[in-house]
Amino acid sequence: MVVHDIIARKRDGFSLSSTEISFFIQHLIRGEITEEQAAAFLMAVYIRGLEEREIVDLTLAMAYSGKVMDLSFLPGVPVDKHSTGGVGDKLTLVVVPLAAAAGVTIAKMSGRGLGHTGGTIDKLEAITGLRTELSETEFRKQVSEIGLAVIAQSNDLVPADKILYDLRNRTATVASLPLIASSIMSKKIAAGSAKILLDVTVGSGAFMKNVEDAEALAQQMVAIGRGAGRETLALITNMEEPLGYTIGNALEVAEAIATLRGEGPRDLEELAIIFASEMIRMAGLGESGAQRGKLMTLLREGKALTALRNMVIAQGGDANQIDDPSLLPQAAHIEAFRAPASGYLSHIDALGLGEASVLLGAGRLNKGDLLDFAAGITLRHKVGEFVTEGEELCLVHGEDSARVNMALPGVREAFVITREKPASHKLLLGRVE
Ligand code: URA
Repeated sequence: MVVHDIIARKRDGFSLSSTEISFFIQHLIRGEITEEQAAAFLMAVYIRGLEEREIVDLTLAMAYSGKVMDLSFLPGVPVDKHSTGGVGDKLTLVVVPLAAAAGVTIAKMSGRGLGHTGGTIDKLEAITGLRTELSETEFRKQVSEIGLAVIAQSNDLVPADKILYDLRNRTATVASLPLIASSIMSKKIAAGSAKILLDVTVGSGAFMKNVEDAEALAQQMVAIGRGAGRETLALITNMEEPLGYTIGNALEVAEAIATLRGEGPRDLEELAIIFASEMIRMAGLGESGAQRGKLMTLLREGKALTALRNMVIAQGGDANQIDDPSLLPQAAHIEAFRAPASGYLSHIDALGLGEASVLLGAGRLNKGDLLDFAAGITLRHKVGEFVTEGEELCLVHGEDSARVNMALPGVREAFVITREKPASHKLLLGRVE
């Protein structure tokens, strides 16, 4: 078998055998495939696609290209939750402690921000002192003791994805359904949870721009989960406008804390209840339809917040910031952006605000860039609300006026005000299992 022939067969539209796919990935991680060959392979897959069996084979070959976590030592059924990415998407920070407070075991590995989308690890690191890089022993001990840990993916997991992801970024091959599905699912499989709950976002702020593509991606990931013997459910959610009112790491942590106190925005709380209910069902702890009342009580009584607090303490973070979020990093310069006219807010473009937040320092323009944890945007209104000319539409948080001025043109473009009240949009757009 030679690499050249594998690339040629995919280029010409043939299906690759399991052996060919595994050969390719094994040689890739051993450094026996050149960058040019790997890039050509990716472009061939991008253009020709992969059939379901090939996607499962590629994902498994990637998942087993490194260490695969064994979580069988845990007493409960660990359930993982993963989002395909969004703007203001702090759902994990709310769902994970909420589900843990309801008894679900969570041993989760999360990622950093990607492009205009935020990442849970960056958000957690906005809490002073919090460590996201734990040794395997520390990780196991924490999950055994408090039933919850969220850490960064360790370097020995899925090395094939690290190589391919970097190449995809440089060769315009990120936006391929089979490549996204295999990249995400290989990491989920290697992270070891028996059950996987996926949040497949769709809309301006997501990688999938329409429901058809989101459904296709969800189906591919669920098929991979099935092929790998992991029960997988995908919920398709709306990411047209940002989730909640905040974008930016410390701002999102503060909003997640408010939500865990039962004082969060309606969209975030609603999705948190839906996702936590599914995690409870997947863990075998009850029917999803019967969890709302119990979960609302966990929020109101502060038990979900206590679960987050316990995790923050276990990972070395400053628990005072959980008790008093005003102690989280705060921006030195905050400027209001005001409504240029009166009318209904008919669109708040999540992509535009995500990109503006990156310019503020909340995300990375280049790999390795340092983040400004305090930077970001706080919305004053959501889509559908009436605003009056001159009223604040959002606050822009940055380290100084120069930074804020870099973001303002994008912020201005993101708000659309019309005379007509827009139709209300649904949060949950589909379910694939
Ligand atoms: N997230 C990933 O981990 N991989 C992708 O390809 C896209 C989003």
